[in-house]
Amino acid sequence: MNNKELSEKIIEDLYKEPDRKTAEIIEYYLNTGTKELCDKAASVCNDIHGNTVFLRGLVEFTNYCAMDCLYCGIRHSNGKAVRYRMRESSIVETALAGFEKGFRTFVFQGGEDPFYTTDMICRIVSTIKNSTGGEAAITLSEGIRSREDYKAFREAGADRYLIRFETSDPLLHKKIRNGITLQRRIEAILDLKSLDFETGSGYMTGLPGETEETGIRNARLCRMLELDMIGIGPFIPHKDTPLGLSDQMPFELCIRATALLRLLVPSAHIPATTAAGSIDPEGREKMLKAGANVLMINITPDDVKKHYLLYPGKVCLEEEGETGLGSLAERVKSVNRVLSYNIGSALRKT
Ligand code: 5AD
Repeated sequence: MNNKELSEKIIEDLYKEPDRKTAEIIEYYLNTGTKELCDKAASVCNDIHGNTVFLRGLVEFTNYCAMDCLYCGIRHSNGKAVRYRMRESSIVETALAGFEKGFRTFVFQGGEDPFYTTDMICRIVSTIKNSTGGEAAITLSEGIRSREDYKAFREAGADRYLIRFETSDPLLHKKIRNGITLQRRIEAILDLKSLDFETGSGYMTGLPGETEETGIRNARLCRMLELDMIGIGPFIPHKDTPLGLSDQMPFELCIRATALLRLLVPSAHIPATTAAGSIDPEGREKMLKAGANVLMINITPDDVKKHYLLYPGKVCLEEEGETGLGSLAERVKSVNRVLSYNIGSALRKT
């Protein structure tokens, strides 16, 4: 079966009864209050990953996007977004400055911006890899590209790739991603896995049109894909998008989803995400207490990062960047955990 057929089969299986172990975990999730559920997930996290929280340096290098996702503030049709593209040299310098400060993992995220050709991205990756003596782990997050492009990225030295599927509901997916299918997204994930990337995906919680069953299927899809990394966060309506007037769902949905994911995919690295910190001042701590074990620190230069507005009220604008590291260490300590600068590879690779 090729990856296209395989992704179709995965979606089909998602609508069948889950295996016994999965069903047991879901049953537990449905019948357990949030505090107890989080305590259980935190204990599983501690058993498997210890009490460390891994740091990743995030570089948001372009907010141009060819896509028109209905939820996203940097969608192509949002004429109000102030657009920027970082130069190749500046992207490299940002990462190397981060490396000097101790970061060992860099995530390069952007809109789907064809300005950055495969060659350019490969050059950025190999320059950073070489300049750090191969010590830095490099994660790319550039959306759907061809398998050939992914292969070139891998050969240039990229270690990891993040590509959220956003929602596991095929009809909703096609609608909110403006015509792009869930099947195509999963195919990209399978392409990455077959190229031996440490592969991450994930979704937003509380998208309009989702039910509790959708939320459970979102988590089940992460388990079926055997992901190395899973990023989730609350959907936050952005007023300059077609979903701008949607309701903000309770943050508890995201916390419960974090715990469910930790139980369903115990080995995955799960970040306490910026979106969580943006709708609740204690949001990231709450995610850490529900089984998350990664923090992504925004090291994008100040002059551009204020324009990377996928949703309103993004916290890093006020409090993160390298200067905020001390306060982050404090926050992590407040939940009895310890910050780690180690590259924090996928568990199956260690
Ligand atoms: N609210 C919350 N998260 C969002 N993202 C995009 N738009 C929003 C929004 N309005 C998330 C998507 C994407 C990630 C980079 O940011 O899940 O994959």
